[in-house]
Amino acid sequence: MIRQCILLLVAACCLVECQIDTTNCDGYSTAISACNTNNGLTGNSRLSFDGLPALATGDLTVTCGNLNNISKAVKCIADTHIACGTTETKQLEASSDDYTEILNTLCTRKDEYDGTCVNADTIGSCASTKLADNNITISNSPTFAESTTYTCKFGEYYLSCANTDSQLEACTKTKTKEIYVSLISELRPDICGASSIVSSVAVLVVSLLAAFSN
Ligand SMILES: *[C@@H]1O[C@H](CO)[C@@H](O)[C@H](O)[C@H]1NC(C)=O
Ligand SMILES: *[C@@H]1O[C@H](CO)[C@@H](O)[C@H](O)[C@H]1NC(C)=O
Repeated sequence: MIRQCILLLVAACCLVECQIDTTNCDGYSTAISACNTNNGLTGNSRLSFDGLPALATGDLTVTCGNLNNISKAVKCIADTHIACGTTETKQLEASSDDYTEILNTLCTRKDEYDGTCVNADTIGSCASTKLADNNITISNSPTFAESTTYTCKFGEYYLSCANTDSQLEACTKTKTKEIYVSLISELRPDICGASSIVSSVAVLVVSLLAAFSN
C-alpha cells in the first residue's frame, strides 16, 4: 500500500493524494464509472483519479475541445475520491475546484503552454531523491503528522525540481514552465501553507507590477 503510494507519487507527480484509501470505500468504482458515462466519456477517453495529472502533461487538443464535459467529469471524479477520505486525509488533497480551475487555465493559455514538453517522471524522481537526501520517510502506518510532513515536503521538492528542470526551461512554448509551476502550486493542500517558492514568485510579480506602474 505504501510502496504503491510512493510509486503513485512518482508517477502521478505533484498530486500527493495517495493518503485517501479508496480500496475500502463502498461504491467508489461505480461512482467513478458514472462520472465518465454521465459526461459522454467512454472507452479510452474514460478518466480515473490517478489519470488526472496526465491531462496537464499531454496534448490538450482533445481535452480542451470537450472542456465542458471533461471538466464536469474531473470535478465528479475528484469529489468522489475526496468523499472516501477521513477528516484528516481530506486535508492532504487539493479540492475538486482546484482541478477544474487548472483545466480552465490550461485551456485558456494553451497557445502558451505545451503539456507534452513536461516530463513529470523526471521531476517526480528529482523530488523523491530530495526526500531521500533529507531523510524524509514514511512508515507503514503513518501518523497524520508524518503523512502531512511527507506530503507537503514532496510537494515542495516537486515544485523546486520543476522550477529548475532544464527540459521545462527549454520548452518552445516559453510560458510552459511558469504555467506548470503555478498549477502545481495551486494543487498544494492548504494545510501545507504557502511554499517559499510560491511566495517568492508572488513577491516577484508584485515587484514587477510596481516597476511597471512607476
Ligand atoms: C457531453 O455530455 C452529454 C451528457 O451529459 C452528452 O450528451 C454529450 O454527447 C457529451 N458531449 C461529448 C462531446 O461527448
Ligand atoms: C540523513 O541521515 C544520515 C544517516 O543517519 C545522516 O548522515 C545525514 O546527515 C542525514 N541527512 C540530513 C539532511 O539530515
